[in-house]
Amino acid sequence: MTYDLTGKTIIITGGNSGIGKAAALKLALVGATVVMACRSAERGARAQEEIRQASGNHRVEWMQVDMASQASIRQFAVAFQDRHARLDGLIHNAANFDLSMKKPVLTEDGVETIFATNHVGIFLLTHLLLDLLKASAPSRIITVASKGLNLYPNLDIEFDNLNGEQKYSPQHAYYHSKLAQVMYTYDLAERLQGTGVTVNCIRVTNVALPDERLGNIPGWLRKIYSLKRSMAITPEAQADTYLYLAADPDVEHITGKYWDEHNRQVASSKKSYRRETWQQLWETTSRLAGIS
Ligand SMILES: NC(=O)c1ccc[n+]([C@@H]2O[C@H](COP(=O)([O-])OP(=O)(O)OC[C@H]3O[C@@H](n4cnc5c(N)ncnc54)[C@H](OP(=O)(O)O)[C@@H]3O)[C@@H](O)[C@H]2O)c1
Repeated sequence: MTYDLTGKTIIITGGNSGIGKAAALKLALVGATVVMACRSAERGARAQEEIRQASGNHRVEWMQVDMASQASIRQFAVAFQDRHARLDGLIHNAANFDLSMKKPVLTEDGVETIFATNHVGIFLLTHLLLDLLKASAPSRIITVASKGLNLYPNLDIEFDNLNGEQKYSPQHAYYHSKLAQVMYTYDLAERLQGTGVTVNCIRVTNVALPDERLGNIPGWLRKIYSLKRSMAITPEAQADTYLYLAADPDVEHITGKYWDEHNRQVASSKKSYRRETWQQLWETTSRLAGIS
């Protein structure tokens, strides 16, 4: 299906790399105003130039945000609203999966970095832009989780371990943050019923990461990643689901669902549907994000 998003403004975090960049190009090709929210000026500007050239769409911009910093997120939200009068889509693609972090590292806000980037920052950014999303309705929020969560069917939100106080590995922190995204999606979708703002979560599958994204991980892990990559789909293939959820008229009224790379609704773990946990997660995240 071909779409026309002329006149629509969409933010995509982490639009300078991988799936986010592939999705930014797809959105630009169908005419959207695309704002890539990136932490690096150099990588953001380079991606903007490449996508403008490849799409012929000059309404592609980059703006600075560090999703691990609440001050940066607040500055971004103000700067975005100074420049743009509407917001039709907010795609929370950026995530930290830095496997070299052997110990929990706290951000300037006192939150473990992976949970801060992949959950608390997303919660805060949505909160700050929600009035604009509502004013621009019908509008869409898209969150991103991981198929790897299927390997942790019993994982639950560990309210006594959010900063890795009891146990920590970067993998554990990552999947924990992604489970939080799934629950947050379901909860937010219910809270936004009747506003015209939908919320859906993508279950990203194994997608090829270029070598330079692997950072300084040990050689044995690099080998595992090389093997994983041989079975992975391309960022472009996964980005089709981003485009589908951002643009397809068939999903305009569908909210609170979890989607695979074939644009099919899928189920998440049993624990992810517990409303009591959603409520506690909401209250805890509001406190961590400094939202009263
Ligand atoms: N690849 C997979 O197999 C896979 C599997 C499951 C889920 N996912 C999910 O898919 C999404 C996209 O991942 P990808 O594969 O495209 O990886 P990627 O190429 O490494 O892209 C990640 C993006 O997130 C950005 N980012 C990280 N920390 C940030 C921060 N603090 N502030 C702002 N931006 C930040 C990165 O920016 P920099 O360029 O500055 O680092 C980069 O643009 C992520 O949510 C990831 O968890 C991927």
